[in-house]
Amino acid sequence: MNTLSFTTTFLLFLWTLMVHAQQAPGNTGCTEYTGSICSKYVDYSVYTAGMDINMIEQQLSNLQTLNATLGEIDPTCVDNYFRYACSFYYPKCGESTAEQQEVWMGCTTSCLEVNETCSNIFTLTGQMSLIPDCNAKSPITDSTLQPDQSCNYLNSTVTKDQAGLHLAAVPPGFVLAECPSPFIRDPKAKNGTTDTENAAFCRFGCCMPCPAQDLFFNEGWTKHGFLATNVVRFVSAVASFVILVSYLVLPDKRRHPSLLILNFALAIFLFSMVVFFSIGDTKRLQCSGDINPADMDNNALCGAQGAILIFSSLATVLWCAALIINLHMHTVWNSSFFANKYIFLHVFCWGVPAAFMAAALGLHAVKFEFANLCLVSIDYIFDLFFYPMAAIIAPAFLLHILTFFYIARVAMKESAQSEASQSHSANSFASRNQLAARKHKHVIQAVKIQWRALLLAIVALVTVLFYWIFYFTQVNRLSTLETDNETILTWLECMLDPDNTQDNCTHVVSNHLPPFGLMITAETLVGLVGLWLFLIFGKRSIWREWNDWIYDMRVRGRMDKNGEQFFAL
Ligand SMILES: *[C@@H]1O[C@H](CO)[C@@H](O)[C@H](O)[C@H]1NC(C)=O
Ligand SMILES: *[C@@H]1O[C@H](CO)[C@@H](O)[C@H](O)[C@H]1NC(C)=O
Ligand SMILES: *[C@@H]1O[C@H](CO)[C@@H](O)[C@H](O)[C@H]1NC(C)=O
Ligand SMILES: *[C@@H]1O[C@H](CO)[C@@H](O)[C@H](O)[C@H]1NC(C)=O
Ligand SMILES: *[C@@H]1O[C@H](CO)[C@@H](O)[C@H](O)[C@H]1NC(C)=O
Ligand SMILES: *[C@@H]1O[C@H](CO)[C@@H](O)[C@H](O)[C@H]1NC(C)=O
Repeated sequence: MNTLSFTTTFLLFLWTLMVHAQQAPGNTGCTEYTGSICSKYVDYSVYTAGMDINMIEQQLSNLQTLNATLGEIDPTCVDNYFRYACSFYYPKCGESTAEQQEVWMGCTTSCLEVNETCSNIFTLTGQMSLIPDCNAKSPITDSTLQPDQSCNYLNSTVTKDQAGLHLAAVPPGFVLAECPSPFIRDPKAKNGTTDTENAAFCRFGCCMPCPAQDLFFNEGWTKHGFLATNVVRFVSAVASFVILVSYLVLPDKRRHPSLLILNFALAIFLFSMVVFFSIGDTKRLQCSGDINPADMDNNALCGAQGAILIFSSLATVLWCAALIINLHMHTVWNSSFFANKYIFLHVFCWGVPAAFMAAALGLHAVKFEFANLCLVSIDYIFDLFFYPMAAIIAPAFLLHILTFFYIARVAMKESAQSEASQSHSANSFASRNQLAARKHKHVIQAVKIQWRALLLAIVALVTVLFYWIFYFTQVNRLSTLETDNETILTWLECMLDPDNTQDNCTHVVSNHLPPFGLMITAETLVGLVGLWLFLIFGKRSIWREWNDWIYDMRVRGRMDKNGEQFFAL
């Protein structure tokens, strides 16, 4: 009901009653309160100027509507509204003398409290017209609300801890009249139905704009953090591309064991280049429309990027494992195990990732969930991504440690034995010493030749382990957020309070999210792999070989020309 028409009819109505009341002599205008609407607040004799209380009650019926719709959602507002309205329409009778009846009007404070506590919920529900005019004159006494010392202050019936919104009480199908920033309107929401664009990201007809994670961390953190990790990945992609091309083009690099590095570089390049998909516009990759997060069905870009990421992650890990096995075979067993097994290596190290990628695509499981790239959805991420990765990385890690132990032991033994042979130059030691010395020489040489590969394997392993452990421990937190209605509602209550900013509310959901610093660290570390490859294998000899290669090309080009001239002659 419109307040204006409500007030005018009420005024007219009171006017007629008052005229009658004044005509009855000896009537003080005070009576016991016999109504029901204000029974919780009015426990005094009320000044009605002879008016029928039932008539006044009828005019107050919108208070009942208010209590019915918002009583549980915003008890403080409703309580304040009752306190204001009841004291305004039912002035309190004070002492009376023969000539005068003392009347206590309601308090201006109560009215201001309504404005203060109800503005938010009235805005959200589109009922701003209900905000009372605190300067209005009571038609009964022809007086306005009074200042604190001289007014009838009705005590609150709700406690302080009930303050604020209680969204759990909002009935299903309720649609907010207005979606306060940063929320946006749910295009499918209709009053009275539970239709929604996205049940996970929309409530009460309003939605979190995609990507929703931006709202869960302090303002701007995700945007800037992931921009930084994207830059790192970009640099990595370029750097690994340089190594990849070098190993492709330069002579003598397409043979064992350099071929291992070539394949590893290709995997790392693919892994880093996924950043090209999100350059300039991360939303293009992460979202489908304004609200829905991207998945392979609604965003082909996300599908392609996710597929490449799944494939290249597993391929990187597999080629890293191949590198580690090769180092082990060469150092410990002095064997070029893989030299003639590249067909199998290729089939296995590219085939297995392709199989998992195909499985993820077949299950329609490629999605944007959090961080900054599309990957396997949380439902499948362990089966299709993290468990296979662990199955490769854990044995590889152990083997690598074993290799290092072996190197350390041989190195130490040799130094101990050379000391021993200096003190006792007994003959029986000689042959064993020779054997040990040969072993030592081989190991030292192996380390000298392969320290780059050893180092790269270590770096890649540590990176992948960190990333793996991070996801393994943190991903579940995120999936509990979507099902935890209570936390989401508490967070929304916080966000819908106009006194709060986004940063004031992040603490509500922080338990359900990976720590921001850790997330950025994990993303940065995996982003750095290509750069490590470049720093470790971008040795001076490569640049010299490039130099020679370019020189060769030019010389050959000239010779070809000479050749033509020669034949032309
Ligand atoms: C509001 O309605 C509830 C029941 O829905 C009732 O218990 C409560 O007393 C009402 N509040 C007032 C102030 O009338
Ligand atoms: C409510 O309070 C705001 C300031 O807090 C004021 O601007 C506005 O005029 C008030 N509304 C009424 C109806 O008094
Ligand atoms: C209202 O509360 C004040 C204290 O907050 C108390 O002193 C007063 O007696 C209460 N009045 C009524 C009518 O309950
Ligand atoms: C929404 O629907 C309810 C009944 O389902 C109705 O009482 C209410 O007035 C409607 N609100 C709007 C804004 O249409
Ligand atoms: C959370 O709320 C949605 C409706 O908003 C409901 O369908 C779902 O069952 C609730 N989940 C839990 C765990 O209460
Ligand atoms: C919200 O956070 C700001 C600082 O970011 C602080 O100044 C303000 O007091 C907080 N507001 C509330 C209601 O906690």
